[in-house]
Amino acid sequence: MFDYRPSADLLAGRAILVTGAGGGIGRACVLSLLAHGANVVMLSRSRRKLESLYDEAEKSWPGRSFIQPVDFSRTGPEDFAAVAASLEERFPALDGLVHNAAALGPRSPIEFYPERQWQEVMQVNVNAAFLLTRNLLPLLAKSADARVLFTASGVGREGRAWWGAYGVSKFAVEGLMQTLAQEVGTTTSIRVNSLNPGGTRTAMRAAAFPGEKPDTLPTPESLMPVYLYLLGPDGRDLHGRALDAQNFNP
Ligand SMILES: NC(=O)c1ccc[n+]([C@@H]2O[C@H](COP(=O)([O-])OP(=O)(O)OC[C@H]3O[C@@H](n4cnc5c(N)ncnc54)[C@H](OP(=O)(O)O)[C@@H]3O)[C@@H](O)[C@H]2O)c1
Repeated sequence: MFDYRPSADLLAGRAILVTGAGGGIGRACVLSLLAHGANVVMLSRSRRKLESLYDEAEKSWPGRSFIQPVDFSRTGPEDFAAVAASLEERFPALDGLVHNAAALGPRSPIEFYPERQWQEVMQVNVNAAFLLTRNLLPLLAKSADARVLFTASGVGREGRAWWGAYGVSKFAVEGLMQTLAQEVGTTTSIRVNSLNPGGTRTAMRAAAFPGEKPDTLPTPESLMPVYLYLLGPDGRDLHGRALDAQNFNP
């Protein structure tokens, strides 16, 4: 794993939004960003999980976390505009956008893949990431050093049978990352990358690989040095890259 031990004020004064904050990698990311000084907007589907995380965060870092319950499978363009408006009221600029939320959907051959679930996975994993990014670009552009980090997957870099919409959506995420990186690379200070966490001990991984022993996998917390590096000043030179958290060597 990447050996990086930044100071506790690495992200002081930065505002960062994390989607899928309620559990797994997103939750670990929120706590790690708060522990390194950031103000964090936690966006996720379950209000209950967000409120529990908020209560935990308030005990150690009062006044620096904010919750945004949003179900990406039920949102329209106006909901993303509302998220952007609420951030604009709160922060002069947005310094980080971590696209971490994702739906797994069923593992099924394309021949039998259910259409409704195909649409839902694409909505959560691709359309929501596009709409959130588009609405937040003006606020990201106001930062002197902003990051957009998409979450990739191995099955979105090389196709794999039965992974259906999830794998295809992660290919689309890479395309969105590359397209955005080219568009903003020379005109703004926004730096855009994708990061594949690799097999990690979370609920999604357990659902995808029910026979696997969770304790053989790295924890979300063990990946956090990579997230901190990419979201902080040291990651400034990485742009347009498809990165791997478990093999990270900048
Ligand atoms: N774990 C792995 O081995 C692995 C490997 C490669 C890539 N990844 C990627 O890493 C990211 C995090 O995954 P994870 O393993 O931490 O999974 P996880 O524990 O299942 O967390 C997924 C998060 O996404 C949120 N989410 C799901 N559907 C949503 C919706 N409709 N609207 C808003 N939020 C929604 C969930 O919110 P609620 O908790 O509120 O329901 C949850 O917080 C994903 O992009 C995943 O594709 C994971």
